Amino acid sequence: MTSTRKTYIIANWKMNFTPGEASLYLHRLEGRIKPSRNVQVILAPSTVSLQPLSLQINRRQFKLAAQNFYWRDYGAFTGETSVSQLRGFVDYAIIGHSERRYIFNESEEDIANKVAAALRNNLIPILCIGETAMERRDGETAAAIYSQLANGLHEVSKEDISKLIIAYEPVWAISSNKNAHAAKPADIDEAQALVRKHISKVYGKGVGESIPVLYGGSVDHLSAGGYLSIEGIDGLLIGGASLIADSFCAIVEIAKGMKS
Ligand code: 13P
Repeated sequence: MTSTRKTYIIANWKMNFTPGEASLYLHRLEGRIKPSRNVQVILAPSTVSLQPLSLQINRRQFKLAAQNFYWRDYGAFTGETSVSQLRGFVDYAIIGHSERRYIFNESEEDIANKVAAALRNNLIPILCIGETAMERRDGETAAAIYSQLANGLHEVSKEDISKLIIAYEPVWAISSNKNAHAAKPADIDEAQALVRKHISKVYGKGVGESIPVLYGGSVDHLSAGGYLSIEGIDGLLIGGASLIADSFCAIVEIAKGMKS
């Protein structure tokens, strides 16, 4: 983590909390997390909770992110929600999460279209990338990272690239909750360097160095400090631990402490 850059702590609540539960949980966080200029806390609730939470939050304290959306702005797409319907409620959008890629079969083309739709609607895309256990075992980690970046950023211009956040989430480290499967600092350091190398090559060294790169995968309050101390890692994308107020608030405190 480079001290002059902003740190992002993102809570991906996944398919948890009813709107009522999400509101109560936000109320608990509001009392414990003070606004900070250096640490941006972003909450990603289910789509159904975005509108009520957008009325409840203090935007100086928290920002909201969509977990998912469809890339067309409107039309006959039963069951879908467009980014243009969400943009009044959220500032960020998580795109390309491995659960969407592998459970819901989202293609690279879908992901590129979603990145473009988010940018078109003035939202900041948080593009998730990361290799599977099999790709890692077969020595294809770098190839997987490069191809997900090249495909996901296919529609992104030189003007827009600096608006994005990249989240490295190795699929094998998500929800593993086992130390043996936790990503090691060396793995994460290698991945963030690959991301920066690719972006530098395509868009120039300046943005390759400055683009925020986050880590996600079984992060909790015990491991957060170690991950945040990796040079080149600008924050964390947190699943399970973000559902536990004590754990999530402790992670935010650790991030703030490392910035002071
Ligand atoms: P866990 O922190 O539960 O492993 O989830 C990580 C994740 O997928 C965040 O997007």
